[in-house]
Amino acid sequence: MGLQGSERHSIVTSFLDGNTCIVGLQWGDEGKGKIVDFIAEKADVVVRYCGGANAGHTVRIGSEKYSTHLLPVGIFRPHIMNIIGNGVVLDPEALLKELDEFLGRGLAISPANLRISFKAHVVMPWHKLEDAYREKAAGDGGIGTTQRGIGPCYADKMHRTTAIRVADLQHEDKLAKRIERICGDRNKVFAALYDAPPMNARAIFEQYRDFGRKMRPFVDDTTHLLISALKQEKKIVFEGAHAVLLDVDHGTYPYVTSSNCSALGLYTGAGAPPKSVKNFIGIMKAYSTRVGGGPFPTEQDNKIGQYIRERGNEYGTTTRRPRRCGWFDAFAVKYSVDLCGVTSIALTLLDVLSGLESIQICTGYKVNGVAMDSFRADMDTLVDAVPVYETHAGWEGDLSECRTFEQLPIEAQNYVRRLEQLCGVPISMVSVGPERSATLLR
Ligand code: GDP
Ligand code: IMO
Ligand code: MG
Repeated sequence: MGLQGSERHSIVTSFLDGNTCIVGLQWGDEGKGKIVDFIAEKADVVVRYCGGANAGHTVRIGSEKYSTHLLPVGIFRPHIMNIIGNGVVLDPEALLKELDEFLGRGLAISPANLRISFKAHVVMPWHKLEDAYREKAAGDGGIGTTQRGIGPCYADKMHRTTAIRVADLQHEDKLAKRIERICGDRNKVFAALYDAPPMNARAIFEQYRDFGRKMRPFVDDTTHLLISALKQEKKIVFEGAHAVLLDVDHGTYPYVTSSNCSALGLYTGAGAPPKSVKNFIGIMKAYSTRVGGGPFPTEQDNKIGQYIRERGNEYGTTTRRPRRCGWFDAFAVKYSVDLCGVTSIALTLLDVLSGLESIQICTGYKVNGVAMDSFRADMDTLVDAVPVYETHAGWEGDLSECRTFEQLPIEAQNYVRRLEQLCGVPISMVSVGPERSATLLR
């Protein structure tokens, strides 16, 4: 099946027959950046709805490689309106750095193609410090966070009186007092708990006031922008960050991030009615990885894991930490698929598995010798889970030049078909390399 030109375009368009949410089905870094960029060819609007600069989405365009942390991936296609939604926790320093980098590399970014919700919460210096202090104090019991201040910022969002939203940066008259109060409070807590030196509220005010001024042209009521885009039947892609198993409610708590980063978070995080989204494309890699702590039943802390890590360049996009690697966990992914109502799947990084004599797929877990009926996102259950595997024949060769599914070695085709069967949803895209062109449509 050779899909070229208009045929390929019509398939991409059909993914966008109705609005689409892209969601990671594992523990992050499934290649969401690549797939959002691919799908965005036919989109009008791309919205980030959760998380913050803890995300790292990679896009390869020709020989250029970009890593986005806060900017929606639609930023690489000039016709797209990119929205940073209210559900995002926004670190202005990280955003402005990303903007500067991309502008310097020749991308056209202006209020014509980027808007930031005034409702988004701001990651402040004390959030990043608290994240680091807490992790350090916890020692081996830490979460292994990215230390981007994500958890403390979301916690303040819920506390309300200690939060700062993007809108607050625009009200300079009130901002100084607000920062002074919160900073004073944090200084007392940090000194008592971590013996930390005090932060300078005035310096923080001046820095964040200036960030606010730089961001001002982009700040908007994105709720109404999105409502209006929906009324005009624009094609919208909701760009999920992180993944289902890192969702604060549905993931492997407490080893999760602090947002609703499954597809379920898009409604509140972007501000969109449930009926507005038709397609839920789940992204999964052909094996498993996870960064930071937490249970990982199919982890291969051995030569297999090292082989995958080196071939897949499995080092964090945000922190450069080596990612933990293991076999594909169909038991866990099926849970993600069912939870989010995934309608089709993009399978990525299949090329990485070339050269292995045999490949294992986890089809279930046993706890104390008893098979579990379904995946249970509970830390205490998962530490005792023993994976049940089935073994498949491996394949040789470089898959990254394949341009049709049928060009893949038969063993690789069989592997994809088996994953499809286990996940219960069509695998409509197979990615065999980081570039746009290394995407096989089925
Ligand atoms: P995200 O966070 O889900 O967007 O994923 P990351 O960008 O953090 O990590 C995925 C990595 O895999 C990036 O370096 C991508 O360029 C790369 N990548 C994506 N798809 C493929 C693929 O099919 N094959 C290979 N070899 N690399 C891929
Ligand atoms: P993308 O969007 C992989 C993990 C961290 C840590 C846990 C909590 O690139 O797939 P946090 O800093 O969020 O409080 O850390 O969540 N984590 C991710 N792992 N990819 C991500 O994002 C991640 N975002 C958070 O490693 O274990
Ligand atoms: Mg990533």
